[in-house]
Amino acid sequence: MTFELQARDAGTKARAGRLTTAHGPIETPIFMPVGTAGTVKAVGQRELKQDVHAQIILGNTYHLYLRPGLDVLQAAGGLHKFNGWDQPILTDSGGYQVFSLGATRKIKEEGVTFRSHIDGSKHLFSPEGVMDIQRRIGADIIMAFDECTPWPCEYDYARRSLDMTHRWLKRCMARLDSTEPLYGYEQTLFPIVQGSTFADLRRQSAEFVAEQGRAGNAIGGLSVGEPAAQMYEMAELVCDILPPDKPRYLMGVGTPANILENIALGVDMFDCVLPTRNARNGMLFTAQGIINITNKKWATDFSPIDETLGDYASTFYSKAYLRHLFQAQELLASQIASMHNLTFYLWLVGEARRHILAGTFAAWKPGMVEQVSRRL
Ligand code: GUN
Repeated sequence: MTFELQARDAGTKARAGRLTTAHGPIETPIFMPVGTAGTVKAVGQRELKQDVHAQIILGNTYHLYLRPGLDVLQAAGGLHKFNGWDQPILTDSGGYQVFSLGATRKIKEEGVTFRSHIDGSKHLFSPEGVMDIQRRIGADIIMAFDECTPWPCEYDYARRSLDMTHRWLKRCMARLDSTEPLYGYEQTLFPIVQGSTFADLRRQSAEFVAEQGRAGNAIGGLSVGEPAAQMYEMAELVCDILPPDKPRYLMGVGTPANILENIALGVDMFDCVLPTRNARNGMLFTAQGIINITNKKWATDFSPIDETLGDYASTFYSKAYLRHLFQAQELLASQIASMHNLTFYLWLVGEARRHILAGTFAAWKPGMVEQVSRRL
């Protein structure tokens, strides 16, 4: 995997780049739609590519391991072959999902034991096991096994957790580097910086991660309930330490405004369930602001969902029609809203990239943050 830094904004720390994987290029800054179980909920692969203009999607180790299971995925020849998405895929390690299982999981040095949310069966995720699982899933970018600390978090807990996450990273690297890809293409490991909202721990973690010299790096443990100002402070501190010639991925972030602010701090990659999860509840992100499409005020608004984007779901259907679909609990409502929100997120990062390349990002960003945060 290679990363070419194409431009840096003069007024902020924003960057534009190009990441090249075995399944093709990714132009950064980028948003990656979340496809937890090998599907981006309510959106087909052809639509993701042709209408949404997604360049890379996420999968989840925890979910895919439990269902359909690794024997099925390996028999298919990996996740790309199984779901028909022939562009890049990133899998999260399960380090986030198993921790959110609450009472049913136990954390030890060896790894995490947990019970399946599907049938209650007991499992162990260890750093080595999670590398082997991600080999079998076959994503282009795979994530280290980490502990995402909750917020707020005691300093001592965050420090001990961080040390364990670093030991787990060493174990992940040793396992990955001593095994071969199963499907003939390169798989790249991204380590994850943790440290909660403690500046000294974040600094220590960023330095440790930078020293490992991997092809890309991630920032975890943010957007877990802390105030946005603290998220930005931590992201900036970490970006200033991580190597400038490698892509930086901020996990699980965020709102359109969060994404623009973090691009300005030097983040290149994002993922979040917000555009798809909120779409299914009728919340639409548009270039004019945020819409609750179930609101009565849209009942006779026959204008397109968002003319600015010029893309299929956003211009073909009217607000009034989409509101009707939500009122009638029609399945098409989820599809149109999810496609629109993802198209908007991809449009937003594409605009940010265009402005970085043109040298106009710093002047463009504040107005756009204000515009996309409005409630319509
Ligand atoms: N997704 C969002 N935050 C995190 C994190 O801290 N770790 C992992 N593995 N995934 C995440």
